[in-house]
Amino acid sequence: MFQREREIITKTPYTDSFDFDEIKEFITGASKNLFISHKFKTSDKILVQPRGGFPTYDKVFELYGEFTNAGVDILPLTIDSNTRLNDYEMAKKMLALSEENDENMLNGYPLVNHGYRSTRKMVTHYDTPISLRHGTPDARLLIEVALASGIFEIEGGPITYLLPYSKNFPLDKAFLYWKYVERVCAEYSELNEPINRESFGPLSATLQPPAIVIVIQLLEMLLSLEEGVKSFSVSFSQTGSMSQDIVSSNVIKKLAKKYAEKINCGDADIHLVYHQWMGAFPRNKEFSDSLINTSTVIAAMIRADKMITKTRDEAFGIPTKEVNASAVKNTQYTLNMLRGLPLITDEEEEANLTEMVDDIMEAVFNDPADTLWRQVFNSIKNGIIDIPFSPHIANSGEAITVRDENYNIRFYERGNVPISDKCLAFERSKVDLCGQSLVNHIIHDIGIML
Ligand code: 5AD
Repeated sequence: MFQREREIITKTPYTDSFDFDEIKEFITGASKNLFISHKFKTSDKILVQPRGGFPTYDKVFELYGEFTNAGVDILPLTIDSNTRLNDYEMAKKMLALSEENDENMLNGYPLVNHGYRSTRKMVTHYDTPISLRHGTPDARLLIEVALASGIFEIEGGPITYLLPYSKNFPLDKAFLYWKYVERVCAEYSELNEPINRESFGPLSATLQPPAIVIVIQLLEMLLSLEEGVKSFSVSFSQTGSMSQDIVSSNVIKKLAKKYAEKINCGDADIHLVYHQWMGAFPRNKEFSDSLINTSTVIAAMIRADKMITKTRDEAFGIPTKEVNASAVKNTQYTLNMLRGLPLITDEEEEANLTEMVDDIMEAVFNDPADTLWRQVFNSIKNGIIDIPFSPHIANSGEAITVRDENYNIRFYERGNVPISDKCLAFERSKVDLCGQSLVNHIIHDIGIML
């Protein structure tokens, strides 16, 4: 039944014809170096991964060359936004224009149109793990092409690739389409090293409360593990407060283990990924360098397994391959200095955050629906899970967050998020609007790095 569904999904004039037997054989015999799950096991450093993708094959090939010379650990493949929205026709036209005019008419690589046979040549040439970076609610065809190409890490999930990216895409469809993704990843994981799935913790990248980020990371992890995925990365991005990042990392590591064990999936490998600052970047490039270096220090403090880099050109658009590669080189340089750092803990903050996460998780599990995805679906619709600044119509948008004087992100209004009166009082006790209106305070809080 499932194979029949996969045949229907992959039978399209927009990509090359699928030969599932050949693909299975390729994955079974693929180099271990292509699997990030393997690299996590064998490497003892924080893996450094940039973002990047251009429309044409040749430009991505050159980009990978630059990254390799810069000492990259994991290569990215960022997909263009037409493909993200399943508009393969437009992606095809823009790819043709990009090839004719030597100009980038797409903001990433239209993987479906390129197809797996040619993309695989590039993947096996570099023999380095590649991470698929997209933002697609319906990624069924895209991930089939990616996996057939030898791209063995798939980012995203039904919540994190929907609520921050889309206004109208139906929530229930996103859950079902991502279930397909998990099942394919689980199936292929039996052939060689596991396929790694990674959730996207930055969400809307704007004043995201760590409790919500962690709950969503845990839920996407559980939805993936219950389909049979064996290697999963939870992630979050720099909040602007080093101490809050340390607290978040300690709590997410502890709770990921606890909840994986709760569904009898304690055998899965769970990793932590840290995103360098995802909010608005300064236009001053020296400030950007400073911000990026600080992110690297935090990644080392929290003992991330992987870090995703930004560039000094972030405020100006998609970086050139040279600027992007130099960000990787610089990050590796900074990382190299950060050895043997002590583990820092903050018991009071960790207890507060753990309690908030556990309370929200319990409310999700108490929903009367019969499956986890339906419980999560209901919990989004009734505002138990609420992402500040999400554009999606299903997101409640009643929880309000602000920064305290140390730049920690705190709940100011909880909306329908079921954190206790005690935890809300703790959060609020840290906040002082200093006589400003709430709106002005929030505007300032969003722009702290400018
Ligand atoms: N190449 C490099 N970086 C990219 N980003 C988005 N598309 C590309 C691309 N094609 C980066 C943005 C931002 C992040 C979300 O992804 O610059 O930092």
